[in-house]
Amino acid sequence: MNAIELDNVKVRLNDKEVLEDIGFKVEESSFLSIMGPNGSGKTTLIKVLLGIIVPDSGTVRVFGVDPVKNPFEVRRIAGYVPQKEKINLEVPLTVSDVVGMGLVSKKQVPRFFTGIDRGRIEEALKLVGMWDYRNEKFANLSGGQQQRVLIARAIVHEPKLLLLDEPFNGVDVNNQRKILEFLGKMKSEKVTIVVVTHDINPLAELTDYVMLLNRKIISFGKPSEALDYVRLCQIYGPSVQVITGKPCPTVITGDVHA
Ligand SMILES: Nc1ncnc2c1ncn2[C@@H]1O[C@H](COP(=O)(O)OP(=O)(O)O)[C@@H](O)[C@H]1O
Ligand SMILES: [Mg+2]
Repeated sequence: MNAIELDNVKVRLNDKEVLEDIGFKVEESSFLSIMGPNGSGKTTLIKVLLGIIVPDSGTVRVFGVDPVKNPFEVRRIAGYVPQKEKINLEVPLTVSDVVGMGLVSKKQVPRFFTGIDRGRIEEALKLVGMWDYRNEKFANLSGGQQQRVLIARAIVHEPKLLLLDEPFNGVDVNNQRKILEFLGKMKSEKVTIVVVTHDINPLAELTDYVMLLNRKIISFGKPSEALDYVRLCQIYGPSVQVITGKPCPTVITGDVHA
């Protein structure tokens, strides 16, 4: 079964064409890395998959489900780690509370945690290596540790699809390594994974497919095919460097951050 299937998707926001003619398929259990400069529509594409943004035309299927018609079903299927989320740091939530939010939003309120829920929170925190911090205040953690907790929140309902939007931004090297280890575990458990990233190199061993996005799909395919020098130059400019290698070429795009 295809985990993701888009056909001819177009999105306009504020009269601006943000995504155009987007069509691709990702089979279940594969790992897709999406690259593209700022403003190229990467976050919009993730939000389309979740039914947060409704396309102006085209079809979207996530494990056969239409996120426009069934956004709640898609949110049960998918776990989402948003780009640099600001949680209100004044709220004295513990690490466990934050992870539990991933269950609360899937159910009716008011509710309380069952034993099964608590087991899931424990398992999710152990998967990202943050169980020892379960009673700490979320606000007191480093940016990288917070990101690992937010990843635990995204997987606590055991999604088949995991969407991570720039998960390494503002994360130190040690926490990056932990997140990479975690992604390897998820992949071995056959979870379908989509990561938006500016840096493909740490994901070289994991990624099955790469998409270069710049409003349209510039390229899509196995890393060795999709990371084409000419196409990378097209979106990142002539300073880009590509060093041939297996399983994935090394790509140096320079500073693409705003
Ligand atoms: N809610 C919105 N309303 C209007 N324009 C938006 C909105 N969200 C994003 N955009 C615009 O859509 C384009 C793509 O944004 P985004 O998907 O966030 O890009 P990326 O994640 O690749 O940086 C940008 O030009 C951005 O300004
Ligand atoms: Mg973005």
